[in-house]
Amino acid sequence: MRTPFIAANWKMYKTVHEAVAFVKEIRPMVKDVHDVEIVIAPPLTSVRPVVEAAHASNIGVAAQNMYWEREGAFTGEVSAPMIKETGAEYVIIGHSERRGLFGETDHTVNRKLTAALAAQLTPIVCIGETLDEREREETLTILDRQIKEGLDGLTADHIAGLVVAYEPVWAIGTGRNATPQQAGEAHAHIRGRLRQWFGGLAADQCHVIYGGSVKADNIRDLASIPDVDGALVGGASLDVRGFFEIITRSRPAAAV
Ligand code: 13P
Repeated sequence: MRTPFIAANWKMYKTVHEAVAFVKEIRPMVKDVHDVEIVIAPPLTSVRPVVEAAHASNIGVAAQNMYWEREGAFTGEVSAPMIKETGAEYVIIGHSERRGLFGETDHTVNRKLTAALAAQLTPIVCIGETLDEREREETLTILDRQIKEGLDGLTADHIAGLVVAYEPVWAIGTGRNATPQQAGEAHAHIRGRLRQWFGGLAADQCHVIYGGSVKADNIRDLASIPDVDGALVGGASLDVRGFFEIITRSRPAAAV
């Protein structure tokens, strides 16, 4: 049984002061939540301060991006070992905003994934189709390409520890989220491909989470879909109470 995984992607929101205040406030609220994996991905300037504020708690920390080289003349970039050194354990790779606004491709996603795994970071790798692609009924083909090229060369062991975030681009920040049927179909397809290409054991252990306009009032429906193992939450994770509600409502029913 996979533990629900709920991650806050703060994107380019919150100063160091605001990020640390958030963690100090939510930390006691979630201290007894042992049946959900909780991760916060602040902007890079706050990664280390958030690691310190979350020290010895059940809150994990992620960076939102990285570069694949270890070091070098790459102005503005940070490497996987540099992220690891902050104490963060996760890194988001290939978010659709990075693909759409900053030119990332399945090839660069693959290089970043490989470097993250080599540095013992857990990648949260994002995939998902645009509205045009969905309307052309290409969703499953796009997902196949993103999985095949993005995860190329990874082993079954890598896949077992990976978090895959299915984020339909048309559902991000739009208030329009996938219906349970649309999310269910995409997640079942992703799990099926992972099983086919990396084996049943790896596919069963890999977390496949949903992202796109997740809020306290829709998380229960999404989390109850069999192949949805949690959520990557943008806007609704910026508010302590809102994020806490999402965590609470994603807990396995028996424990709530
Ligand atoms: P919203 O929850 O704001 O739609 O953002 C989703 C997202 O992109 C998470 O990575």
